[in-house]
Amino acid sequence: MANPRSAYMTGFGNEFATEAVPGTLPVGQNSPQRVAHGLYAEQLSASAFTAPRGQNRRSWLYRIRPAAMHGTFAPFSAHAGVPRFHNDFGDGPVTPDQLRWDPLPLPSTPNDFLEGLYTMAGNGSPAAQQGVAIHLYAADRDMDGRFFYDADGELMLVPQLGRLRIATELGVLDVEPQQVAVVPRGVRFRVELPDGPSRGYVLENFGAPLRLPDLGPIGSNGLANPRDFETPVAAYEDVEGDFELVAKFQGHLWRADIGHSPLDVVGWHGNCAPYRYDLRRFNTIGSISFDHPDPSIFTVLTAPSDTPGTANVDFAIFPPRWLVAQHTFRPPWFHRNVASEFMGLVQGAYDAKAEGFMPGGASLHNCMSGHGPDAATFEKASHADLSGPDVIADTMAFMFETRAVLRPTAQAHEASHRQRDYQRCWAGLKRNFVAPA
Ligand SMILES: [Fe+2]
Repeated sequence: MANPRSAYMTGFGNEFATEAVPGTLPVGQNSPQRVAHGLYAEQLSASAFTAPRGQNRRSWLYRIRPAAMHGTFAPFSAHAGVPRFHNDFGDGPVTPDQLRWDPLPLPSTPNDFLEGLYTMAGNGSPAAQQGVAIHLYAADRDMDGRFFYDADGELMLVPQLGRLRIATELGVLDVEPQQVAVVPRGVRFRVELPDGPSRGYVLENFGAPLRLPDLGPIGSNGLANPRDFETPVAAYEDVEGDFELVAKFQGHLWRADIGHSPLDVVGWHGNCAPYRYDLRRFNTIGSISFDHPDPSIFTVLTAPSDTPGTANVDFAIFPPRWLVAQHTFRPPWFHRNVASEFMGLVQGAYDAKAEGFMPGGASLHNCMSGHGPDAATFEKASHADLSGPDVIADTMAFMFETRAVLRPTAQAHEASHRQRDYQRCWAGLKRNFVAPA
């Protein structure tokens, strides 16, 4: 079921209007007595009706059949009663240890994207509409006759190996490593893997939708610029058959029969839509004098909580950049944080670690757990020649930073790919203190 095309409209959170068949969208109203071409009108609301205008997200969809048409949902498990994709955080120990993992192994039996999802950690809950879940995926085949939606949260997909073709109700997103895609809560989609074996990360955001951060004194440009976000044009499938609709609802998976492709939206308008962003377009800002700013300077998108300035989750990246700060320890500093930091690596190496943090791998530094450069990095940077700039090339690390403790799942804690000796990366830090005589 190849989708015919992917093409994009630019801008973050714009009021888009797009139709795959001319004349689909009603003019001057949303819900005419009879929609053009015999379609149904349906509103998709991702914010409260009465949310302030700047945060209000809704779209009007004009489709072959309404979303209500499907069979009865029944509990679903992709792995014979042993769910790997869930929200049962803290079903294993929640320790203050620093944690790190090798990449999730590629599947030994065929897995599609949904079957390949593997939950690492999370906080909050879908019921409370606050918190996040962080998942990995490793998959090697297309979702075939299967469609998925997540009622529990918005999804950000961060491919690390292999491209993703994400066919959604509102259009088709093609995403490659160093790009990310965001699918709003509730939007139905299918993932195809044009490169076969594929791997990456998924953020499931139970809270307010991700938005661009305010820029304060930075001014009206910089960091992720709004025009670099791309939303697909309408593209629909008019296909009938014995298909499956899988829903994630309140932390559990459910399945229902559906007799047609739910990707049957011929036209839509509004500001609730999937989008993609190329991380290489991030305008990276840093110090040109000494020290370096807090890593919040690298924020691409943020999902606020009810506390001003304290995000439910921030998505920050550590892209290629110049380091020019004088009389300064140039790598990331040693740090403890009230927030909790989950890191991944899409490409290259991360400048705080000489080894052990690999593309596709992950680390978790929870609330107040000390972390920072490993011994080799500290030694090298403490004696580096600062008379010229350093350039960090060929890298793309990222962080999901969240206000509440990330509770690992039992499978993440017990995983054979967890590095049980991670703390040893700091063991070689020497005692250098010499008390004045
Ligand atoms: Fe940190």
